[in-house]
Amino acid sequence: MADTSNIIEIRELTKNYGDRRAIDHLSFNVKKGEVVGFLGPNGAGKTTTMKIVTGFIAPTTGEVKIAGYDVFEDPYEVKRRIGYLPETPPVYGDMIVADYLDFVARLKGVESSRVPGLVARALEKTQLTDVRKRLIQNLSKGYRQRVGLAQAIVSDPEILILDEPTVGLDPRQVAEIRRLLQELRGSHTIVLSTHILSEVQATCDRAIIINGGRIVAEDTLTGLTNRLRGNSQIHIRVRRNASDLAQALERVSGVTEVEMSGMQIRVQGHLSDDLIEKISEAAVQQRAGLLEMTQPDAGLENIFIELTSQH
Ligand SMILES: Nc1ncnc2c1ncn2[C@@H]1O[C@H](COP(=O)(O)OP(=O)(O)OP(=O)(O)O)[C@@H](O)[C@H]1O
Ligand SMILES: [Mg+2]
Repeated sequence: MADTSNIIEIRELTKNYGDRRAIDHLSFNVKKGEVVGFLGPNGAGKTTTMKIVTGFIAPTTGEVKIAGYDVFEDPYEVKRRIGYLPETPPVYGDMIVADYLDFVARLKGVESSRVPGLVARALEKTQLTDVRKRLIQNLSKGYRQRVGLAQAIVSDPEILILDEPTVGLDPRQVAEIRRLLQELRGSHTIVLSTHILSEVQATCDRAIIINGGRIVAEDTLTGLTNRLRGNSQIHIRVRRNASDLAQALERVSGVTEVEMSGMQIRVQGHLSDDLIEKISEAAVQQRAGLLEMTQPDAGLENIFIELTSQH
């Protein structure tokens, strides 16, 4: 019996392109309702995995089950449960945005009576309503990316597989897509690939980090960040006396490194609440005028670099 709480089950997936192995015995599960970030550097195997999971290419060996259905034995059952934003969305340039979404919805087996409502919903959620009557080929790259997203969500599928959903978007559009993902979470299971760490931090419950076709870490975001807590950074910005403060900080136990640049100080150390308190006390004692004290999200970045540099 399949474990129904795992809506995606991936077992020992391997894909060779000729004599190049793109993914190597990859196994992981995704639970219903989870938002998972699939993270890895260029060439790690993210797109290859997503193409196999969505049934676009076959693995060399291994197995994928979606809601208990085997991707290659029951492709129809699988495809109607998945909305997929490919890395390079297929070009239907000579189609009108709304007609294209209508076409995709029908292709996914959506009942005719539900199609217009679902198309309107997808247009609205991806903020494409204003351009719904335009030809896809005349849209800018960012808008075309949103058409790709709209076609992924148009049939209101249980699962969304999004291959770098924010690539090529300007910051405002990135924020809009993140908001959309927040809106979709809960009612959908989402797997998104990215090499942007803040994207994972902003949207995901869990990250699966791959490198060279293998999983190098799989953890909740807190779990991943905690791994680095033993060696973290704090950035401080002060109004005055920066060099006195830097010298004082070097003497604080738990601090391993202090670097000063103008009125900014970077403190490296074994991070704990005690240490943070000592740092702020030192700033007060030195009358430095503490303006800012932040823990940069370099946490995940460091983990990423550490995990993906051993190839
Ligand atoms: N059609 C193909 N033929 C041959 N090799 C391929 C093919 N597609 C991918 N590869 C190789 O497989 C490996 C994994 O590629 P993949 O596109 O899955 O990586 P990715 O993690 O999506 O990278 P990116 O972040 O650059 O999108 C790479 O070494 C790539 O060169
Ligand atoms: Mg890719």
